[in-house]
Amino acid sequence: MKKTALFIITIIVAIANLTAAEDWGKTGHRAVGEIADSYLNKKAEKQISKLLNGHSLAYVANFGDDIKSDHQYDSFKPWHYVNFPFGEKYETYPKSEKGDIIQGIEKCIAVLKNANSTREDKVFYLKMLVHFMGDLHQPLHIGLADDKGGNDFQVRWFSDGTNLHSVWDSKMLDSYEMSYTEIATNTDVLSKEQVEAIKKGTVIDWMYESRALCEDIYKHTEIGEKLGYNYMYEYINPLRSQLQKGGIRLAKILNGIFS
Ligand code: ADE
Ligand code: ZN
Ligand code: ZN
Repeated sequence: MKKTALFIITIIVAIANLTAAEDWGKTGHRAVGEIADSYLNKKAEKQISKLLNGHSLAYVANFGDDIKSDHQYDSFKPWHYVNFPFGEKYETYPKSEKGDIIQGIEKCIAVLKNANSTREDKVFYLKMLVHFMGDLHQPLHIGLADDKGGNDFQVRWFSDGTNLHSVWDSKMLDSYEMSYTEIATNTDVLSKEQVEAIKKGTVIDWMYESRALCEDIYKHTEIGEKLGYNYMYEYINPLRSQLQKGGIRLAKILNGIFS
């Protein structure tokens, strides 16, 4: 009897680990990397390719999530998001001592800009930067502590039980049924002025854009709600736009570092 109980608990823990939050999910992060690749200048492209041994930004985009299962990297876990209440400002709200996505991105940029950084550190923080710039554009990563960025906000996705965070990390993208390369080659066609407008501002400004979308999502979603076709119709374009902005802004940062 004891053995059976232990077995059941083991299975439950294993399933819980498998379904743990994975941020944008593989597709979203890769799409951000692939879009960024197309906005890199020659100098940046060359140096990044050297650091990544010829691999693409899309290839390394999920590294930040991949290392989560290795406890050696536990201190990086709070860097994937930032939580503060609606109506508060990031700048004046008490910061997490363990770091957050803004501090994480700043650290990555600082290491990459520092001529004294080792190659090993540059490679690590480059891969982390690619990942965190994706997370910065996932609206639930600029979330609320109360429900862990929507991880504790239960909803249904079509007939499956899930949570709001997961809907935005992966459920919508999975239902969209496009590969990351298809998403990257089917982004909105933008004028030069539109691209410049997206590139303008700071990491904190971009964080507030995600926060505004997060607030809109909370206004339009109820606990236990059954989300499906209507939700896709309302939010798939804002989601696609976030991936596109994430890619353009990641390239802007990388072009600045490697110029
Ligand atoms: N854990 C706690 N808050 C979170 C958030 N906003 N995003 C992802 N994971 C979290
Ligand atoms: Zn997530
Ligand atoms: Zn992440």
